[in-house]
Amino acid sequence: MQIKPKMPSETSPATPEYLQQEESVGEEVKELISRLPKEKGWLTAHLYQYQGFWYPVRHLAGVLACQKHFLSEDNDIFLVSTPKSGTTWLKAIVFALVNRSRFPTKPHPLTASNPHDLVPFLEINHYVDGRIPDLSSSPSPRLFSTHLPLLSLPESVGRSHACKIVYLCRNPKDIFVSLWHFTNGLKPLHSPPNSMADVVDMFLRGVSLFGPCWDHALHYWNLCKEDSGRVMFVRFEEMKERPKAQLRRLSEFLGCPFSAAEEEAGAVEEILRLCSFENLSDLEVNRSGRLSSGEENRVFFRRGVVGDWRNYLDDETAARFDRIAEEKFRGSGLVL
Ligand code: A3P
Repeated sequence: MQIKPKMPSETSPATPEYLQQEESVGEEVKELISRLPKEKGWLTAHLYQYQGFWYPVRHLAGVLACQKHFLSEDNDIFLVSTPKSGTTWLKAIVFALVNRSRFPTKPHPLTASNPHDLVPFLEINHYVDGRIPDLSSSPSPRLFSTHLPLLSLPESVGRSHACKIVYLCRNPKDIFVSLWHFTNGLKPLHSPPNSMADVVDMFLRGVSLFGPCWDHALHYWNLCKEDSGRVMFVRFEEMKERPKAQLRRLSEFLGCPFSAAEEEAGAVEEILRLCSFENLSDLEVNRSGRLSSGEENRVFFRRGVVGDWRNYLDDETAARFDRIAEEKFRGSGLVL
């Protein structure tokens, strides 16, 4: 496999909370993981397979807690993705979109906070370590994000026909390259980076954060085909290619279409400018700040382009990815 000699940043990486020792989890999680399939992690010591997908142990505690305790409300909005699909961008866009009447004047919260702090994940933030947060005072519509696969969503979300799910997907080859950079960027100092050769087979077997990404996308795709009023499917590539059209689609799906006056005033362009890679990645908060969970904000902004995998994967490796997509998506109409 061809590997170009570009490596993630050599500067001091953040060591996020979830790198802490596995022993710090509670008895319920310890008992659960003793029965789960286990593999070496990319970043954490291990990944565990739970309900068909792979998690670090600290995320598992959050998954169990939100499955048990989260109660959805009718107008909740869930932003769902696999890691490195462009979640940061989607969070920024939907936050700016649904809150546009709350923040008509500058400075906008996105200029002072990373999108992950404005739209926290259920399992990684709100319920991390098995916490039970009080979400009752969140402004309506409540905006949540999650990397949870469809089959693992809290029951109240699965049952509700009134909440909305926006699912973001991306070409798995670009997800893989992005994840490789991301996880190496988060490694503790003096811990050797993973080579691509170390992790590509794991990724192709689905052994990656919330992987396999193919099954993750397919399950939501199938639900979207059944119930397009409830689930909207967004592709990173389409967002890059036709951002205005995708933002208008999102606004209609979420029940907050742009008025003629807003269109005239350039509201669509303004949200896209605010949330652009160039703007967000250049903000002080994203150049030097950290998330409450410990990651440096800058690790969520790398290149933000389509097809960067071509700089890293040779034809043979790319073909392995494509074969998996062909097999998994055959007959579904899904193309990534
Ligand atoms: P690359 O590593 O390919 O550059 P996630 O947000 O799901 O963690 O995904 C991160 C990926 O989205 C990274 O991809 C990152 O650069 C890209 N990204 C982050 N913010 C973006 C934005 N505003 N516009 C486009 N891409 C963005």
